[in-house]
Amino acid sequence: MYSREQLNIFNDFIKSKEDKEISNYEKPLYPYSVIELFAGAGGLAIGLEQAGIECTALNEIDKWACETLRRNRPHWNVLEGDIKSFNFSEYHNQVDLVTGGFPCQAFSYAGKKLGLDDARGTLFYEFARAVQEINPLICVGENVRGLLSHENGKTLQGMISILNEIGYNVVPIQVLKAVNYKVPQKRERLILVGIRKDIDIPFEYPKPYKKIYNLSDALKKGELFDTDVPESDGAKYPKSKKVVLDLVPPKGYWRDLPLDVQKSYMGKSFYLGGGKTGMARRIGWDEPSLTLTCSPAQKQTERCHPEETRPFTVREYARIQTFPDDWKFAGSTSQQYKQIGNAVPVNLGREVGYSIVKFLNQYYSLSKPK
Ligand SMILES: C[S@@+](CC[C@H](N)C(=O)[O-])C[C@H]1O[C@@H](n2cnc3c(N)ncnc32)[C@H](O)[C@@H]1O
Repeated sequence: MYSREQLNIFNDFIKSKEDKEISNYEKPLYPYSVIELFAGAGGLAIGLEQAGIECTALNEIDKWACETLRRNRPHWNVLEGDIKSFNFSEYHNQVDLVTGGFPCQAFSYAGKKLGLDDARGTLFYEFARAVQEINPLICVGENVRGLLSHENGKTLQGMISILNEIGYNVVPIQVLKAVNYKVPQKRERLILVGIRKDIDIPFEYPKPYKKIYNLSDALKKGELFDTDVPESDGAKYPKSKKVVLDLVPPKGYWRDLPLDVQKSYMGKSFYLGGGKTGMARRIGWDEPSLTLTCSPAQKQTERCHPEETRPFTVREYARIQTFPDDWKFAGSTSQQYKQIGNAVPVNLGREVGYSIVKFLNQYYSLSKPK
């Protein structure tokens, strides 16, 4: 007889065996193409590229993000500027897929079912307009989990009804946890998939992997990366914040501070209740990072390095978002943090890409050889 604790030594073995049986990888049977809207610094675009989907064009308004895209992929067709000023009709029936992480905005309702015209002025309208002009087989929007509850769910319902109106059935929405897709970070992304109504092929979300990667996997040589993280620039904490964070142990947060420091550091928030587990937080080597934000030294969302009292550097940030080390970011340090913090983690994009490739493989083998 063995006790449960004694048998725990087999857990790692069982987990890695289970993961070997799961793979979302799907080889593309044909060359596939995407137009990526709201492309940022290319997190989703690189993930899709790794899955075998080539970018026909990318649209983005931020000049530094566009510079990043052009610097790393000189052959990509980067359409720089406000999406409102582009007409995508020249791509009509020319690409398989349209993707985009449109910023979430409220619609103004007049009590009726929302139509495309009612959404004018929002960036979702621009996404839907581009889909209508391009007429791809499948479109994929990505957003924050908060879209589920935005305006009590009405915003998302409005988006689904608009996609329906322009000829796309929306697959049941899922929020994917990046940590289940080889990303060492607790980030979530809502995925909105529309399939053109003349196509009767199911879309399957990528299956979650069992293995969870942590900060050590992100920053040190191992399964995710072949080398330790390269050195790079990074932000610093102001002295007053450093003195406080020096007192927080790895995996600790503001509650680990002496009571008087808790009160002075948290100010009014101290009395407001709620966990606020992201405040004055130091990440541990053996856990995934909390979601990275657009500025690394901001109050409320500190994610301090485990051993040194400083925010993660630019390259550490990029690693946690699973960008390859050779992907260079343009602009000032704060512009670079913003581009990385805004991105879809590359490995999550790749896994979603495999699901899209699977869908397209089925479409072209069943319905219409390319
Ligand atoms: C969430 S980020 C997209 C991240 C990107 N998919 C990635 O994986 O790296 C949204 C992007 O939309 C861009 N954006 C906002 N308004 C825009 C507009 N009117 N036209 C074009 N791009 C816009 C922002 O500059 C930002 O880079």
